[in-house]
Amino acid sequence: MRATAKAHTNIALIKYWGKRNEELILPTNNSLSVTLDGFYTETTVHFKEHFEQDKFILNNETISGVMYERVTKYLDLFREHANKKNLYAEVISMNKVPTAAGFASSASGFAALAAATAKALELNLSKQDLSRFTRQGSGSACRSVYGGFVEWEKGEANDGSDSFAIQIAPQDHWDIRIAAVVLTAKEKDVSSRVGMKRTVDTSVFYDGWLESLPADLHAIKEGIKARDFEKVGSIAEANCLKMHATTLGANPPFTYWQDNTMTVMQAVQELRKENVPAYFTIDAGPNVKVLYLPEDEEKVLEKLHATEEVSDVIVSKVGEGISYV
Ligand code: DP6
Repeated sequence: MRATAKAHTNIALIKYWGKRNEELILPTNNSLSVTLDGFYTETTVHFKEHFEQDKFILNNETISGVMYERVTKYLDLFREHANKKNLYAEVISMNKVPTAAGFASSASGFAALAAATAKALELNLSKQDLSRFTRQGSGSACRSVYGGFVEWEKGEANDGSDSFAIQIAPQDHWDIRIAAVVLTAKEKDVSSRVGMKRTVDTSVFYDGWLESLPADLHAIKEGIKARDFEKVGSIAEANCLKMHATTLGANPPFTYWQDNTMTVMQAVQELRKENVPAYFTIDAGPNVKVLYLPEDEEKVLEKLHATEEVSDVIVSKVGEGISYV
């Protein structure tokens, strides 16, 4: 009862920002992402009859505390489903993602964990079922089940049965590049989970965010279909700015940006003035991801490396969905 799975992280072009149900992780809005080939998690789950509790090893370190609890509580969902309540596992994970610096390691982490666990228990889940399970580990993870361009349908049902991701265009539909600009790998002050809850509960800008989403989603899907880079990039950048604006309207207010975040944003805007179509997006952390086309790679990387306080730039292509090793 052992399986290994690999999942890539994803970057949202239309952000998931807010839950209507915390327990089941049901979002207030649809979101849309592109899966990245540069960052992934590989996880082996091994259920053993004689184990009295789960064991979790991440990047060669035995994990305890909150992170361990989150993993073991998540495995309970599968144990319940498989009717194997007292069967515990050893989980060994390797992360090719700088943890907790806004690179959404939880997305690839929970997607790989869900896939390996379901396979080890021989559950034979459809991709849709796997996406539903994955969602309950971390919302954005349900999009990492698929490669290419992926939409997470928020669903309407109270039990979450219609809240899962679907692929809207495969990996080979469009060759765009995503540069992850690393500013700092330090732990963030406000996690995405805490930040989005505070925003939903208190931000005076939250209603405006929700109202603007259907139009953004509709237009970006048209843009992806037509491979219209300027349309997709400008909608993604504006959507990111709107999401981050909601945090400033929260009580107490907060922001994920640092001064060097703004420096990179300005560098991207300068690229556009130099007629290089490049657009940024930012998740719940200080780091910036830059979208551009392959033919502009040299100019984009040159600009980013010349920008102050940029410690690293990691380039991704559009990545694939879950695979089994
Ligand atoms: C800003 O998926 O990390 O990256 O569901 O609470 O685990 P939980 O949150 P998480 O939030 C991601 C938020 C975001 C936007 C996005 O990925 O869509």
